[in-house]
Amino acid sequence: MSRCRVLVTRYVYPAALELLRRHTEVDYRDSRDGLARDALTEALRSCAAVVCQLTDRIDADLLDAAPELRLIANVAVGYDNIDVGAATARGIVVTNTPGVLTESTADLAFALLLAVGRRVGEAERWLRAGNWRQWEIDLLCGREVHGATLGILGMGRIGQAVARRARGFAMEVLYHSRRQLPESTERELGARFVTRAELFAAADFVSLHLPLDATTRGSIGAAELRQMKSTACLINTARGGLVDDGALLAALREGTLAGAGLDVFPAEPEVDPGYLELENVVLLPHIGSASVATRTRMCLLAAESVVAWVRGEVVPRQVGVEG
Ligand code: DGY
Repeated sequence: MSRCRVLVTRYVYPAALELLRRHTEVDYRDSRDGLARDALTEALRSCAAVVCQLTDRIDADLLDAAPELRLIANVAVGYDNIDVGAATARGIVVTNTPGVLTESTADLAFALLLAVGRRVGEAERWLRAGNWRQWEIDLLCGREVHGATLGILGMGRIGQAVARRARGFAMEVLYHSRRQLPESTERELGARFVTRAELFAAADFVSLHLPLDATTRGSIGAAELRQMKSTACLINTARGGLVDDGALLAALREGTLAGAGLDVFPAEPEVDPGYLELENVVLLPHIGSASVATRTRMCLLAAESVVAWVRGEVVPRQVGVEG
């Protein structure tokens, strides 16, 4: 019996590839650059499943050219790179990799929060430039993180993991989310549900943990930034498209916002050059989940979804499906 053909669009950790190879015929594109649009279209034509990454844009036109395709396993928890509606309408299942990257991403959100608050990037650049002459009482003083108020927008797995870290810093944690958490979880996290407006107005640090979709795109714009304190900092480890870059840059330049820590950008790998001129931003190249252990688990999870589907089992981690 012929084996199901699976396209793996880019380099993945070997454990995932080994698993896929045990169960399927793998068309592996062992490159970090991925496939150009035409090559991806061509490669998908004869595949029943694809293991793709957030750098692969899978839209309706591409799906129309992939008559055999039945499963898209995205190696990421976010799936804004895929037109899930178009896939579902064509009977194609889409899966993601939730859970395994929660702690790593929360670690990085906290690293950014600390780095922005305590001016870590700026201080390191300053030292490397040979500027350090002596200890001074007011040298590179930043904002206190312990005891500050943290506003978490989007209280899913990662938001909750950030809240847990905040407890260790004796922060007051406010959150806003589509759904309020059960009281017992709020108590465990020490987090208080507030309106968006209350969150923006009260927080010293606002950390974004929302998915990017039509309802959240550009949802942090001039109006929201204006509601924040001029001493506050914005942290984004979710998706760049949530934030209006122009508005954020203006707020940072004009001093109506104290700082920002950004791991994600609207048109990666492009970074608005305006950010590069500012000392009060910390910029990272989308490394929220970037530890070898986490990235390996993400690749494995995507491979496991494919294997479940090949075996005719219920496919875990389907997106666009309630429950
Ligand atoms: C995701 O999984 O969506 C992250 O952005 C990459 O780890």
